[in-house]
Amino acid sequence: MIRSSGAVPVGVPLKSYSADLDGMLACVNPKTRLIFLTNPHNPTGSLISREPLEAFMAALPADVVLVIDEAYIEFVRDRDCPDSIDYLNSDKIVVGLRTFSKAYGLAGLRIGYGLMPSYLADLLNRVRHPFNVNSLAQAGAIAALEDEDFLTQTVALVYDELEFLYTALDDLGIEYLESQANFFLIRGTKNADEIFEDLLKQGVIVRSMSSYGYPDFIRVNVGRHHENLRLLEALEVVLKK
Ligand SMILES: Cc1ncc(COP(=O)(O)O)c(C=O)c1O
Repeated sequence: MIRSSGAVPVGVPLKSYSADLDGMLACVNPKTRLIFLTNPHNPTGSLISREPLEAFMAALPADVVLVIDEAYIEFVRDRDCPDSIDYLNSDKIVVGLRTFSKAYGLAGLRIGYGLMPSYLADLLNRVRHPFNVNSLAQAGAIAALEDEDFLTQTVALVYDELEFLYTALDDLGIEYLESQANFFLIRGTKNADEIFEDLLKQGVIVRSMSSYGYPDFIRVNVGRHHENLRLLEALEVVLKK
């Protein structure tokens, strides 16, 4: 997408499983137009908190657009989590991206939204495909926004189950990274692709992080309690093998 628009993407590797904001700043030059941050990060679940984000924004040139992908923000428990809404009227150009695919459970409807200054929304409106969000999806999204109980229950379930999984993994002596999202990384005792295949044979699907540059990690989505128990049983067998 970036290349097909004639732009040149510049990737900055993570540092200690988190966005390397200093490394990103070091790459900013007069040609920089857009910067993408994901907060919380997928796949590590790490969070950029308010202070470092604001210091990063302060150092950005005024004409660079900072896009913050907040696909998982509803799951964040850290009170120091920045919210793109707070920066919409700042002197920097900030865009927040949200989706109904995650905490709202509506991935099949293909709907999300962006928070941005109105002149930017106007520009995007001129180039977006017409009818890119159908009316059923819009009705679903509006209903989802009104259903606060569903969101509260979902987020609470994920939080409780994450804590349950952390404790269970501690007991099993399996390493993991704590996450602010509804997924987390578990360190394997062998190559992640192999773990993926072995778990698949037991009917459990996880994501190997090999293609993300972390060949010793798998990413696991937090499920319901009985699903998490199933995962733990399978993991115990596969990782001890
Ligand atoms: C960080 C991040 N942003 C955006 C998305 C895409 O969400 P959507 O289903 O709205 O395309 C994902 C989905 O995996 C994601 O992980």
